[in-house]
Amino acid sequence: MDARSVVRTKRDGGELSEEEMRWFLGAYVRGEVADYQAAALVACIFTRGMTPAELALWTRAMLESGSRLSFEELPQKKADKHSTGGIGDKVSIPLAPAVAACGVAVPMISGRGLGHTGGTLDKLEAIAGFRVRLSEEEMHRVIGRTGVAFGAQTAELVPADRKLYQLRDATGLVESIPLIASSIMSKKLAEGLDALVLDVKFGTGAFLPDVSRGAELARVMLELARSMGVKASAFHTAMDRPVGAAVGHALEIAESLECLEGGGPADLRELVLIQGGEMLRLCGRATTLDDGKRQIADALDSGRARRVFELVVSEQGGDPKVVSDPSRLPRASHVDPWKAGSAGVLSFRDLREVGWAAAALGGGRVKIEDVIDPAVGLVWRRRAGERVETGDVLCEIHHQKGRGLEACRARLAAAVSIGGSVELAPLVRETWSG
Ligand code: URA
Repeated sequence: MDARSVVRTKRDGGELSEEEMRWFLGAYVRGEVADYQAAALVACIFTRGMTPAELALWTRAMLESGSRLSFEELPQKKADKHSTGGIGDKVSIPLAPAVAACGVAVPMISGRGLGHTGGTLDKLEAIAGFRVRLSEEEMHRVIGRTGVAFGAQTAELVPADRKLYQLRDATGLVESIPLIASSIMSKKLAEGLDALVLDVKFGTGAFLPDVSRGAELARVMLELARSMGVKASAFHTAMDRPVGAAVGHALEIAESLECLEGGGPADLRELVLIQGGEMLRLCGRATTLDDGKRQIADALDSGRARRVFELVVSEQGGDPKVVSDPSRLPRASHVDPWKAGSAGVLSFRDLREVGWAAAALGGGRVKIEDVIDPAVGLVWRRRAGERVETGDVLCEIHHQKGRGLEACRARLAAAVSIGGSVELAPLVRETWSG
């Protein structure tokens, strides 16, 4: 077998065989296929696409390019959720302990933020001492004791995706449905799950803003889950406005703690209830989605979810006192108001700019190795769809001695629109139940 013949097959619109795909990915991981050869194949997949059968085999070959996690020792069912991400999306942080408090284990492998979006791991690291680089052994220990573990992708887990994702990022080959679906699903399915809930975002802050492309991605990922025998459901949810009010790492942890106490913004709570409830339903712990939502609500309102989170923080080396005293989280030196320059109804014309506004303060990365400041960010005081008057405070800017403040304000001005009435998209546009 050689790389050129595999590339030629796809270049000419053919279907790759299982053998070709396994050989190619294995050789690429071992360094026997060069980056330029892999880039050529990826470019051909990007333009030619993949048949459903081919994509299932490609995803399985990616998944089997490294080791897989298995939590056979746990008596509970295992479930996770994946979000395509966006601005202020901290759902995983209250959701995982709430689901664990209801008897389903959550071995969560999350990512870091890049560009305009934040990542769950970075948010958790805003808690002093919190370690996300868990060895497999540590992951087993933490999940065994708490029902949750928040870990990072290791070198052994789906190494084909680690290499391919970097290559796609560097070559402008990210936005392809089969490549995105196989990348996400190979990592999630390597966690040894019984069930998976997908949160696919639409709107200007989303990875795939277009509604029909997002819906197609959801359907393709659900089909992949089905082909691997994992129960899965998907929600198509709004990312034309931030989730909750806080955007920024420590600020989002503080908001997650409010949710874990039964409070917090209504949209954040609703996303936690529906996604957590669906995880319970798929695992047979709830009879219907409404029953699942009720159980998750009870876990939040009774303090059970919060106690699980406190235990996870402690098990992962973090300062557990943060949970009852959020003032221990990193705080920016200054907080300035950002006010409305005119009267009208608030909406976001380009939500990505809000992510870039927080990044300008030092709260984001352009390159994966950039160091972020966990304390900075924004807290929205007015929500999309609300009428505001000139001079009303729209959001608070948490900054360090003015660093990036002007750039942040310019980004915010590009992000918002104050005008006539706006029709907000529903929080959940569509649900595909597995
Ligand atoms: N997230 C992933 O993990 N992979 C992609 O290809 C895109 C988003």
